[in-house]
Parts: sequence; structure tokens; C-alpha cells
Amino acid sequence: MQDNGKPKIELGLEGVYFTESGICKVDGVNGRLYYYGYSIETLAENSNFEEVCYLLLNGRLPNAAELSGFRNSLAQERPLPDEVAGLIEDSPKDAHPMDVLRSAVSVMALYDPDANDNSDAANMRKSIRLVSRLASAVGAIGGCRNGIGYVKPDSSMGAAGNFFYMLTGKKPDAEAVKVLDLMLLLHAEHSSNASTFSGIVTAATLSDLYSAVTSAIGTLKGPLHGGADQAALEMMHAIGRPENTEVYINDALAGKKKIMGFGHRVYKTYDPRARIIKNRLEILQGSANEEVRNLTSIALAAEKLMIDKLGSSHGIWPNVDFFSGPVYTDLGIPDYLFTPLFAASRIPGWCAHVMQYWKSNRLVRPLEYYNGELDTQYVPISQR
Ligand code: SDX
Repeated sequence: MQDNGKPKIELGLEGVYFTESGICKVDGVNGRLYYYGYSIETLAENSNFEEVCYLLLNGRLPNAAELSGFRNSLAQERPLPDEVAGLIEDSPKDAHPMDVLRSAVSVMALYDPDANDNSDAANMRKSIRLVSRLASAVGAIGGCRNGIGYVKPDSSMGAAGNFFYMLTGKKPDAEAVKVLDLMLLLHAEHSSNASTFSGIVTAATLSDLYSAVTSAIGTLKGPLHGGADQAALEMMHAIGRPENTEVYINDALAGKKKIMGFGHRVYKTYDPRARIIKNRLEILQGSANEEVRNLTSIALAAEKLMIDKLGSSHGIWPNVDFFSGPVYTDLGIPDYLFTPLFAASRIPGWCAHVMQYWKSNRLVRPLEYYNGELDTQYVPISQR
């Protein structure tokens, strides 16, 4: 209790440990990130999204036979139930894509016989189904908005390749698939971030995995979290030309606006994922696409400005969302799919944490300090 009799309130649960886990270490002081002990740099260099999904769901890397079996399971689950494909096709074209994705996942549950079976085996089956189908659903949302409707998944491709195939109806080039696969890997897991935490809160009532994932998708949508990637690109478009960057950023900061893609509740130094994504921008500076070159120059100018102004002094550095815009634009991915793609990346992390939390489940129910009146007198309406 504080002197005034009030308990210490940790707004936003800042700095509060609510559980422990060996899935992911986020070292905000040194800017390091580990999935089950493997550094993000090691995984980015040597692994791929499907292998990392296996790691997150099983706690270890697979051998060749296990990875092949896992890939086959993902491939089998890639097609969407007709009712889900239909919902996406019939959704209003101006509906928020994260609303469409959240609705699609809810409808997936209606047609999954495992939906309310909370056994370990059923939860693993659902995790594989969800890991596979979120990428299909995001591809389908894009395909429907591109006017080609629901393209049946090509199960010969992984999540990244199939996403492009469902978005465009064409087989993607290998370089684009490699870049997107890395982006999916980099976004796959991040400890107790807001969307993972909200999934855990839902699961901790002993609800079900689909409900937990639906909560997580709704949480990821916000611009303070997963929605920042699209917002950061919108800012780059608003800046327009690299030479406008300084005035734009200075005006925004003077107006107490947040610069999307910068700052982090845990990282008080460069987000290691942003460092890896930034490597791609060195290549994009020489892009044949003028818009991509322009966005890349703006992003690099904004990065330098923000680090000079708020880096060491305020601990505000680029985060995972900042450089996605130029990278995804170069891949032909429309900005309205950035956050849905983030969800399709993060689904293994969400499922891994929920299944682990259930092993020593505890209802999440924090306290709220009451600061109102007590025993207030009830005045009949005729006298109010
Ligand atoms: C993700 O948690 C995770 O792990 C999330 C994530 C994951 O992988 O799951 O890493 C993904 O969500 C990354 C973050 C994406 N969001 C953004 O880029 C949105 C812009 N960033 C800010 O809104 C902010 O930095 C947060 C929300 C990310 C973190 O904010 P905090 O910890 O609540 O800090 P704060 O808002 O209280 O800021 C502290 C100070 C404030 O100034 P004062 O009011 O004290 O004067 O820093 C300032 C803020 O105004 N500040 C910024 C800023 N971020 C913080 N000022 C300008 N631009 C910013 N981006």
C-alpha cells in the first residue's frame, strides 16, 4: 500500500511477470530474441517458417522425417472449409481485413469436430489446422479483393508460396517466397505480447483454442500492436519524398503524435527483427521499382532521424513493424494485408503459449482499485 492507502497500480501491467515460459526470451536491454534458446539471427540464417512452427509447437527442432510429416499435415489442412471460403468471398469489400480474418477463424470453429475438445491431441490438431489455414484465409482475403475470388490452395507450396498463389492466382517467384518466409519466421513468436496475452486470458477460463485465437486476432488489429506495420507505410506515403521526412517527423513529434513502427514496451534498443528486415532495404535501394526506391529512402531517412532524436535519449528505436512496408510493397503485397499476414505469422506463437499455459492453468483475474463512492443512496426516478 502507498502512503495514501492506494495500492501501487501497474498501468498496462508494465513490468509485471504473470507466468514463466521457456518458449521465448525477449531481452529488451541488449536487443536479443530467442525461440526455445535459438537466437532469431540463427533461425533467420538457417531455418524456415514451417520448421520454426514445429519448434514452437513441439519445443524442439524436427528431424527430416518429422519435418516432412509436419509439412504434409500442414498441406492437408490448407484448403478452407467451403463455408469459410464463402464467408470471405461474401464479406463486404470495404470491411476491415482483420475483421474478416477474425470472423473467418470463428466460422472455422463451427466446422471443426475438434473445436471444443481440449485434449492435448485435439489441441495439437487444431494448432496445425490454424497454422495452415490462417495463411490460406489471408491469401483468400487478398484474392477476393483482387477480383480472382477464392483460389484453392496449392498444397505443393508452403505457407509463403501458397499465400502468393491465392493472392494472385499465379505461381510466385522463388526469391519472393524466400523473403516472405523470412518475414513470417521473424513475426512467429514474441513472448507475452498483447495478442498472446489476450489469447491466454481467454484460454485460462478453460474456453477453447479457437476462442483464444479469435481474441488474439482482435487484439493484434490495434495500431499500437500489429496494426503499426500498415500505419508506418501510410506515414511513408504521407511523407511522399525523402526530403520531406525531417519536417514531417518534427511536426508529428511536436504534435505529440506517435511515429508508427518505433518504440516498444520491452525493447529499449534496436529490435533485432527490425535489424534483420532492414538488411532487405539495402537491396531495395537499387530496386527497379521507383515507388519502392522512394519508400526505402524515406524509411532509412526516418530511421536515422528518429534514432538521432529519440534513440539513446528516450529508448525509442525501430521495431519489427517499421521496415515491413517497403519490403511487402516490393513483393506486391497490398498494405491492407500487412496485419493479417502478421496474424498468419504469429499463430504458432499464440497456439504454443495457450497449450503451454493450460499445463499449469490459472485463471487470469487481476485487481482493479475502486475509487468511487460506497453505499450511495438510491433516489427514486420521480425525484431525479
Ligand atoms: C508490436 O509487445 C510486443 O512484443 C509487440 C510486438 C510483437 O512482436 O508482438 O513486438 C509487435 O506491437 C511492436 C510495436 C508496434 N507499435 C508501434 O510501432 C506503435 C508506435 N509505438 C508506440 O505506440 C509505443 O512505443 C508502444 C505502444 C509500442 C510502447 O509504448 P509504451 O511502452 O506504452 O510506452 P509509452 O507509450 O508510454 O511511451 C513512453 C514515452 C511517451 O512519451 P511521454 O508521454 O512519456 O512524454 O515515449 C513516447 C511516448 O509518447 N513514445 C513515442 C513513441 N513510442 C513511445 N513517441 C513517438 N513515437 C513513438 N513511436
